[in-house]
Order: sequence, then structure tokens, then C-alpha cells
Amino acid sequence: MPLHRAQITAVHGFVPKDILSNSQLETMVDTTDEWITTRTGIKERRILKGEGLGTSDMAAHAVDGLLKKRNIDPAEIDLLICCTVTPDMKFPATANIICHKTGIKNAFSFDLNAACSGFIYGLITASKYVESGSYKKVVVVGSDKMSSIVDYTDRQTCVIFGDGAAAILLEPCPPGEPAILDHEFRADGSGTPHLHMKAGGSLKPPTHQTIDAREHFVYQEGQTVFKFAVTKMAEVSETVMRRNALSPDDISWLVPHQANLRIIEATSKRAGIPLSKVMINIHKYGNTTNATIPLCLWEWESQLKKGDNLILTAFGGGFTWGAVWLQWAYNS
Ligand code: COA
Repeated sequence: MPLHRAQITAVHGFVPKDILSNSQLETMVDTTDEWITTRTGIKERRILKGEGLGTSDMAAHAVDGLLKKRNIDPAEIDLLICCTVTPDMKFPATANIICHKTGIKNAFSFDLNAACSGFIYGLITASKYVESGSYKKVVVVGSDKMSSIVDYTDRQTCVIFGDGAAAILLEPCPPGEPAILDHEFRADGSGTPHLHMKAGGSLKPPTHQTIDAREHFVYQEGQTVFKFAVTKMAEVSETVMRRNALSPDDISWLVPHQANLRIIEATSKRAGIPLSKVMINIHKYGNTTNATIPLCLWEWESQLKKGDNLILTAFGGGFTWGAVWLQWAYNS
């Protein structure tokens, strides 16, 4: 057992003010509010508008708010991980830019890409640095400007995604205190054909042809992704619960990645956790990729109590998927 476990000691989120509603989408593609609502549970999503604004700007708002909330000097942060699939640029890492924008000067920082599972991958990665004993204040921020890679002529994908960011602070705690306790992660690259961006990487650098073929947007085979998500999120959640002898009654909150309300409902049913104990805000924000889980924690923060057992679970492109068991560390 590590000398110090890691616990979440603060959370803060940011969503852009501009709303893209289902009725607005009805004017853009061949869809209806009724179809989107019944098939996905989404009513509206936020879009980051404004020249020169990217993923780092939303993340900087979230991190700034996080540090102010706890009255922490940015100079005290010793590591920042940015989980994103929409970095400001291919390089340098968006994490570096966020540190620059928020005055974090004594940290090292890097980006982590595990698609929609990125935030939970980042959370566990960060917790290991804390457990090492060398890192005292670590920030994990999930931020995505999905509107920059969504094709607003493709009705199957453009209704799903939205923009947003949220950050958590991790600090060490003595054994026995509420902490991040277990996880189960998986990745399977054979899922690549079903959810990816075709061009823009080293395999297929940008050309006029790739732009004309609309290959710089999210490509998704919805049904295949749906089926995999429904099975896998429940499977890993059950594995973590079984390994730690946790019954559904022991779980205070299931915090699932917000990709589709039907996926969330199926996961809650399979895991035996009633919907009344599932955090759901997909109707307001859609799928914000790396921000969904921390945005839920931020919105539910006032209801969370010290010692609450939370299962966080996500699924994403790659394929990647996983579940985390943690105990909430504070009353707000
Ligand atoms: N409005 C109206 N009709 C639409 C539509 C839209 N926005 N999008 C698709 N359709 C149509 C399809 O063309 C199809 O029509 P057809 O029967 O005439 O061919 C019909 O609706 C059903 O399409 P299908 O793809 O079977 O719908 P679905 O119930 O699987 O829902 C998704 C589509 C994308 C919402 C769903 O598959 C999904 O959520 N998949 C998982 C996506 C995901 O989680 N991605 C992120 C991973 S982290």
C-alpha cells in the first residue's frame, strides 16, 4: 500500500455561455428535437465562440477558479495534466499553455489523450505521482472544444458533442482517509476504425484533398460504439465493485461519461445502481469528451459528503474504457 494515497480536494468547472439548442440544429441538418431527445437525451450543448479562443482558454478558466476557490497560489502546483482530444495546437502541449495562462510556474505539465476516457486515465496517472510522495498539489483538467472537430453537416455526430472544461486538485492524504482507492482500465486499438479522425496526423497529413473530403472531423460509427460502450462501462464498474466487495447499496454515486442517456441508463441497470444515484447532466452539455466527469463532480459538489463511495466510469475512442473507485474527501 502506498505511504500517501491521493484525494480530490477541490473541483471547478467552466462552460462557455453560448448555447446550441436542438431547435437550432433543426435549421442546420435534417434532424428534430424529438429524435435527438429520445435517441441521446441531449437538449442543448455549449459552444466556445470567439476569435482566438481554444481548449486552453476554457481550461484556464476552470483551473483559475479551482485555485481561487482554495486560495492556493499557482506557484504551489507541481504538476498539471491536461486531458484533451482537441489541443490548441499539435505541439506544444496544451497543458503548458494552461500553466502559462494561469501563472503556474513551478510545475511540469503534459497532455494525455485517451479520448473520452482521458479524464479518468489522467486522474489515476496524477494519483500515482501523489502516491510517490514527491508531488503535493497536482491539477488534472479535462477540456475539449469539440465544436472545432465536429462536422456540422453530419447529423449523426453534430448533435452529440459540446464544449466545456473542468479541473480537480489532488493532494496526499494519510491511509484510512477518503481517497482514490482502485481502478480498472482497458484499451483496444482494434476499435480505431469505428471512431477516429481520418486526417491531420502523421499517417495522413493535411492536404487540400483531405479538407475537401471532410477528413478533419470526428468519424463515428454510432451503433458499433454504442454497443461497445453499453457492455464495457458496466463490465469494468462491476469488476471494481466485486474486487472491493462493494454492493450497489454501498455506492453513493455513479458518475458515468455523458455520451448518450441510453448508454448511461443501460450502465446503471447492469451495475444495479438506481438512476437516482447517477449523475446526469447530458441534457445541458451533450458530450464534452474529457470534461463530462469533472463537470458532473462540480455540479454535484454541494451534495457530496465526506466518505461517499463514487464509481467513475468512461468509454471512448481507441477504444479505451475504465472505472475508478474513490471516496469523496470533503463536505463543501
Ligand atoms: N436526426 C435524425 N435522424 C438521424 C440522426 C439525427 N441526428 N442521426 C441518425 N439518424 C437516423 C439514421 O440515418 C438512421 O436512419 P435510417 O434508419 O433511415 O437509416 C436512424 O436515424 C437510426 O440510426 P442509428 O445510427 O441506428 O441511430 P442510433 O439509435 O444508434 O443513434 C447515435 C445514433 C450516434 C446517437 C448512437 O448510435 C450513439 O449515441 N452512439 C454512441 C456514440 C458515442 O457514445 N460516441 C462517443 C463515444 S465517447
